[in-house]
Amino acid sequence: MPIYLDNAATSFPKPEQVYTAVLQTMQQVGASPGRGGYGTALQASRQLLAVREAVAGLVNCADSARVIFTHNATVALNLAVMGTLQPGDHVITTSMEHNSLLRPLFLLEKQGIVLTIVQADAEGLVDPARIRAALRPATRLLAVAHVSNVTGGIQDIAAIAAIAREAGALLLLDAAQSVGSQELDMQRIGVDLLAAPGHKGLLGPQGTGFLAVGPGVQLRPVMAGGTGSSSDQDHQPDGFPEGFEPGTHNLPGIAGLGAGIAFVQATGLERIRQHEQELAEYARICLQQQPGCHLYGPLQPDRRSGVVAFTVDGFDAATVAFLLDREYGIAVRAGLQCAPRAHRTIGSYPGGTVRISPGWYNTRDHIDLLCDALISITRKGIQ
Ligand SMILES: Cc1ncc(COP(=O)(O)O)c(C=O)c1O
Repeated sequence: MPIYLDNAATSFPKPEQVYTAVLQTMQQVGASPGRGGYGTALQASRQLLAVREAVAGLVNCADSARVIFTHNATVALNLAVMGTLQPGDHVITTSMEHNSLLRPLFLLEKQGIVLTIVQADAEGLVDPARIRAALRPATRLLAVAHVSNVTGGIQDIAAIAAIAREAGALLLLDAAQSVGSQELDMQRIGVDLLAAPGHKGLLGPQGTGFLAVGPGVQLRPVMAGGTGSSSDQDHQPDGFPEGFEPGTHNLPGIAGLGAGIAFVQATGLERIRQHEQELAEYARICLQQQPGCHLYGPLQPDRRSGVVAFTVDGFDAATVAFLLDREYGIAVRAGLQCAPRAHRTIGSYPGGTVRISPGWYNTRDHIDLLCDALISITRKGIQ
């Protein structure tokens, strides 16, 4: 079994309960929620509702009907921006964003939205004052990643939310790298739209994610199809949640997500956060001692999460990752991690960095093996 250090892409392994929930749902429920009045269809509906409520509780979304299940964070981000913005609207985002947010925004820019990309500093942190300075009368949305998938840097979301509130703009939080390890309270922070994957920090299966929508946010459906309701109508219903979830749900995946959330809550968010951060800090100490190794991201430890980005002089990032995998069975991510502007911001473009992202199931031994492997790789050079 390889040592898996790419939990920022998707978490692995998952808790046993997640595998069990997926299997049991497939074998014992089988039916589609909202698509029939027979026993297993009703059971499927109840299961879907229970996970919707679990998600709402996790992020403190005021109305669980406003939790929309998606295939991943990308679909949730697309729905958030395409369902709220109109031509002429002004949007502020940052240079640290993932393509999952930037590409939909660039698509909408071609259709008439006006986009401002606020530059983060060389550590990858955004000064909220820069966001404030970018406000315009037409600013409708602030769209920001809570935690960077490139550096692990934690943005000052409270300050950014306060700016959105004062400006009367919506705040879209990309919680892809924070859900399951950072506290996320939509109502306390003031988040209007929260997009998250189910398959990273929440330890659910791939193909799961959600968009949680705050009260008062007007969202238009961006896809249409069968909803199991209002079937006599030609047009897509726009009620929450069914208007935004056309087609058959990934119920086995959603059941697995429910089991993942239960595991995270039973284990404790704070315990998970501390474990991942401790391993990341341990890795940073070891990497700092390696000659020619450069670390990226915030200098202040309390602005860092469980992601470590580095480069090694004389090696490109892809080669390091390739050798770690081939020679030592260690899985890490190299390159631009779908966030080219973030790499330009921190000075690692175009080659990118090597990224390690420990998860709940990693141990100090894994980090020790990684460090030993890096020492051997740099000693041997490219062969
Ligand atoms: C910050 C950020 N946003 C969005 C995404 C997209 O998530 P998904 O793969 O679930 O679509 C990722 C995935 O790595 C991410 O790190």
